[in-house]
Amino acid sequence: MSKPSVLSGIQPTADSFHIGNWFGALRQWVQMQDSHECFYSVVDLHAITAEFDPIILRKRTLASFAQLLAVGIDPSKSTVFVQSQVPQHAQLAWVLSCITGFGEASRMTQFKDKSQKGGQERSSVGLFTYPVLQAADILLYQAQSVPVGEDQRQHLELTRDLAARFNSQFGKTFVVPEPFIVKQSAKILDLQDPAAKMSKSSPQGCIFLLDEPAVVLKKFKTALTDSGKEIKYDPANKPGISNLLSIIHAITGEEISAIESQFVNKGYGDLKVYTGELVVDKVINPFREKTLSLLGDESKLNELMNQGAIKAEKVAAKTLEDVYIKVGFKN
Ligand code: TRP
Repeated sequence: MSKPSVLSGIQPTADSFHIGNWFGALRQWVQMQDSHECFYSVVDLHAITAEFDPIILRKRTLASFAQLLAVGIDPSKSTVFVQSQVPQHAQLAWVLSCITGFGEASRMTQFKDKSQKGGQERSSVGLFTYPVLQAADILLYQAQSVPVGEDQRQHLELTRDLAARFNSQFGKTFVVPEPFIVKQSAKILDLQDPAAKMSKSSPQGCIFLLDEPAVVLKKFKTALTDSGKEIKYDPANKPGISNLLSIIHAITGEEISAIESQFVNKGYGDLKVYTGELVVDKVINPFREKTLSLLGDESKLNELMNQGAIKAEKVAAKTLEDVYIKVGFKN
């Protein structure tokens, strides 16, 4: 029996992924490679739905692709590719947009949030149809499962609705995918503001996978901690300390209580140094080196991208062909 297929995507909108991405989605992506047929995409078409700079976009696309390989996505097991290199994504998105209701798309909360922030007039039509393109990404590969964060649940619902609608209108064409909401073993918070999720928009509180080790240690040393002295997991009253304990747990898998007991009679400073060193040792060092070496050989990286795109296109072209026949574009 063939393995169930999986598709997920990540936008090339930062120079570096951060440890929140790693403990949340990416680690899961790596783990699924043996049990599933995986398609992982750097979704650059999505990245131009908000303001962007072409030179920076190109650089970030390469860097994102290299980082996927560096964290352990293996091109001999999975299909890793850049979305814009597979033309079927845009082609299927058009067809799907013609069976999407205007009202239905208007109800997407991510669009409402983002367009409110930027102002209605400055939001693009591309931002509005973003979820339809995301549906195309998923349906082209007949993905059964889509590992995403909680914030993508509504887009997944739309994808399911569009797949079922197309199937009932034109005959069975698409697999209706199931969301696979990645339970964050630890929700990683901003080191400077432990009320907020770690995010690239707050660089001082965010540990980027490509940060230099000395920078990582410093960010941990200056992490905001709480009043009191005791090292105890108590997210409501000690969010900063609890966040550090969660990070340790996410790396070592030790029970929180076991970690706490290692810090009896020790101070917040000890915990910060320990966490920083652990992150550098287990996450930053192995990862950074691999990424930098991949980025050092751009022609090799481009070759891997091309191979990924060819592999992806084989699958995508088959689905699109079926769609084109079903809607009457082709015999
Ligand atoms: N919208 C997703 C995000 O911001 C990225 C994405 C694009 C995606 N296409 C996808 C995720 C397809 C899963 C499947 O995280």
